[in-house]
Amino acid sequence: MTDETWLDEAAAQFRVTDDALRQGMLRFEEEMALGLRQPAASSLYMEPCYVDLPTGRERGRAVTLDFGGTNARAALVELAADGCHVRGEVRRPLRAPGAYDVTRAETAEALFDFLADLVREALARGGARSEEPLPLGHTFSFGTRQRRFGDARLIAWSKEIAVPGVEGAYVNEQLRAALVRAGLANVMPTAILNDTAAVLLAAAFRAPGTAIAAIYATGFNSCYLETFGGRRPPMVYNIESGSFRHFPQNPYDRQLDTASAKPGAQRLEKMISGRYLGELLTRVLREGLHDAALPPLTAEMVGEAAQGTLAALPGGRPLPSAASLATLARALIRRSARLAAMTLAAVLRHRAAADRQPRIAPQTLAVDGAVFAHMPGVAATMQETLALLLGEETAQGISLRLVRDASGRGAAIAGILGAGERDE
Ligand code: BGC
Repeated sequence: MTDETWLDEAAAQFRVTDDALRQGMLRFEEEMALGLRQPAASSLYMEPCYVDLPTGRERGRAVTLDFGGTNARAALVELAADGCHVRGEVRRPLRAPGAYDVTRAETAEALFDFLADLVREALARGGARSEEPLPLGHTFSFGTRQRRFGDARLIAWSKEIAVPGVEGAYVNEQLRAALVRAGLANVMPTAILNDTAAVLLAAAFRAPGTAIAAIYATGFNSCYLETFGGRRPPMVYNIESGSFRHFPQNPYDRQLDTASAKPGAQRLEKMISGRYLGELLTRVLREGLHDAALPPLTAEMVGEAAQGTLAALPGGRPLPSAASLATLARALIRRSARLAAMTLAAVLRHRAAADRQPRIAPQTLAVDGAVFAHMPGVAATMQETLALLLGEETAQGISLRLVRDASGRGAAIAGILGAGERDE
């Protein structure tokens, strides 16, 4: 019988008090307001997206490219009166161990050639004519600085991607050059948008009035429609919620951050998103089991451990006490979901305050992403946290709706909007 209290002690490190969540929400709300006034002073990027919300009447054909999580995807999409038709979708992982790893590509060209290749394959599969001029909507899921809809500069990579030559540069310009190299001069990138904005577009296309969207997947982030209390035209803002710096880290968070590709950056994301959940659990186990060579656990394994269905640790290592491991995994997931909800509660409060509403109006928040969709307990914990932070009655009016596969549809809408084919 081994002493496994260390697992329970580690689990305790991942519990956050209700009070800490309340403080975090208020601080997040302050950082949003600060970011609007003085972007450099806030840990949140608060970047304007220069995208109009769709009317739902947009029609046309566009190429979509989605880059930023675990897979890249390209497709030929047609928005027609009878719905959205996706043709020839191609999906490829960014890393295939032993074969290639574009997250560590040596040059920007190599990365964009990989993406252009994917587009070429999707067009061939989708049966596009080789000369057909096509707009391309690019879902690029990183923090960018945007001053027009057609292109944006990458501010900084996140999610452990480290390709030189892209930070600070225009993204669609590089993509366009790669498309031309790939013989696809007929494909013109007309829009670039964050994945959260793609979710917002896809959701607003079907349900006008949707004003907040989030991604809870490999990365974590949200965007919303800022109304400026009616003093200026509304604008969609990419918050880059994961860059929030004012929530206390525990020792494992600090270790993970120090060892990451960008120490100090995306601190909240490193406590929430799927890219890091497995790594946090790995760190606890390596330390507790004195096994520095334990192979890394994935986010899926965290989910299995929480449900008691993980048969063994990676590398065939035996499980420590399954019950204590489940407690730890559940604490990790619960913290993640509570922090995610904390940021959304702040966005809801910010919007109500900007519009001088006496209370937060009932509404639907659009959420996409594998952690939200599949991680056990996440959606329910988020809803329960909204009730804690906003009050039962308000939270009852808030629905977190899973919008599956929104990136592609959002990118198509954006590509068509960008090409000026808006059907007014
Ligand atoms: C990026 C965001 C993105 C989020 C979800 C983060 O790492 O910085 O731009 O929206 O991941 O994909």
